[in-house]
Amino acid sequence: MRVIMLGPPGSGKGTQGERIASRYGVPHISSGELFRDEVTRQTETGKTLQRYLDAGDLVPDDLVLSLVMDRVIAAQAEGGWVLDGFPRTVPQAEAAAKAAADVGMSAQAVVYLEVPPEVLADRLADRGEGRADDSAQVARHRLEVFTEYTRPLLDYYTKRGILVRIDASPPVDAVSEAIFAVLDRIDG
Ligand code: AP5
Repeated sequence: MRVIMLGPPGSGKGTQGERIASRYGVPHISSGELFRDEVTRQTETGKTLQRYLDAGDLVPDDLVLSLVMDRVIAAQAEGGWVLDGFPRTVPQAEAAAKAAADVGMSAQAVVYLEVPPEVLADRLADRGEGRADDSAQVARHRLEVFTEYTRPLLDYYTKRGILVRIDASPPVDAVSEAIFAVLDRIDG
């Protein structure tokens, strides 16, 4: 199974991405988690990443690709992947598509989690994990960044015929069921 999770901050990409990965037995690759881990370990790269994460800005494409692509390629050997938070811009999508096509393993579905903005704000405010970028101001900015840079991917993947829209406002289990109903058909 090869799935890309797409959705605004707080839409449930991480929550649902883990469940999809576990159901289909493939690695869950979260760019945000990868970056936060670098920040926690205070690596040189982590220090650079922290500025972008704290501000809710996108990490530059070349840095993202240098950190994420190797993991995606390694995951192909395990039968696929669930990509969560990557690709996030059209140039990232083009680079990922090229690398995947080179080994004949393109994405089978892009799951777009649709949630109204007011619900997103509540979810991030309630998360309670102390993520520095969940403050109301930064969360608002992350949503603006999504609208400007990531939303164009909806057209990009619709044109390729692999976008699946899921209403992600219901409770977690109901959203999972809606996603599995679609992905089971692809997997079977
Ligand atoms: P990233 O970690 O990807 O954050 P995000 O996209 O802002 O998304 P979140 O992790 O906040 O939310 P989510 O959609 O995963 O929802 P979740 O399941 O956690 O990226 C962080 C930063 O890294 C970016 O701002 C950027 O700086 C950088 N970055 C990452 N990738 C990049 C890239 N490719 N290029 C450039 N920069 C990049 O759920 C949220 C909360 O809601 C949780 O508490 C959860 O329990 C709850 N919840 C989930 N589903 C439901 C439900 N159905 N009902 C009720 N509550 C729910």
